[in-house]
Amino acid sequence: MPQRVCPWWLGYMLASPLRRLLEDPRKVLAPYAREGMTVLEPGPGMGFFTLELARMVGPRGRVVAVDIQPRMLAGLKRRAARAGLLERLDTRLVSNDTLGLADLSSAVDFTLAFAVVHELPAVEPFFAEVAKASKPGAGLLFAEPAGHVKTSDFEAELQAATRVGFELAGRPSIWRSRAAFLKRA
Ligand SMILES: C[S@@+](CC[C@H](N)C(=O)[O-])C[C@H]1O[C@@H](n2cnc3c(N)ncnc32)[C@H](O)[C@@H]1O
Repeated sequence: MPQRVCPWWLGYMLASPLRRLLEDPRKVLAPYAREGMTVLEPGPGMGFFTLELARMVGPRGRVVAVDIQPRMLAGLKRRAARAGLLERLDTRLVSNDTLGLADLSSAVDFTLAFAVVHELPAVEPFFAEVAKASKPGAGLLFAEPAGHVKTSDFEAELQAATRVGFELAGRPSIWRSRAAFLKRA
């Protein structure tokens, strides 16, 4: 299947205040993100969840936001600067086939992978990189858009995560999404 990457202009729509009327990012993240955490967010787009994560981890925490599109990261940084949250972010421009996390071995407390896995060229290597960067017991909230990703495809992605060191810990209900919460074994 050809790879479909979210176009940069859709990044503006996904991060728009209108989305907040339908989906409250703080509510989605509240069970998982805590002050002082190191959080990883692959595919942040322009930061709909990232800014909320930066607020939740506080000044002692940080959010590592990794994307392949410079325009997404530029939009994210602009919005974070306006909100006074830029110094809590570690933004990384990476290539399509790696998350560039060699310096983060067993360092991450929580990962948010929201609407990104179906855009990747290979799913299992992605989860393996996330597993390597995660502390034992670290959480992973994995969600895919129900409109784009069939149940069978989501379950196959989930299986890939469990093959490389994550254990299924719950099935949160998230608006218009297929979602799972996993823990690093
Ligand atoms: C549909 S958007 C979702 C944005 C955000 N997570 C949200 O829910 O609003 C997918 C994002 O994943 C990024 N992406 C696609 N392939 C990627 C890869 N291999 N590594 C990191 N990010 C990737 C895209 O550039 C885009 O910013």
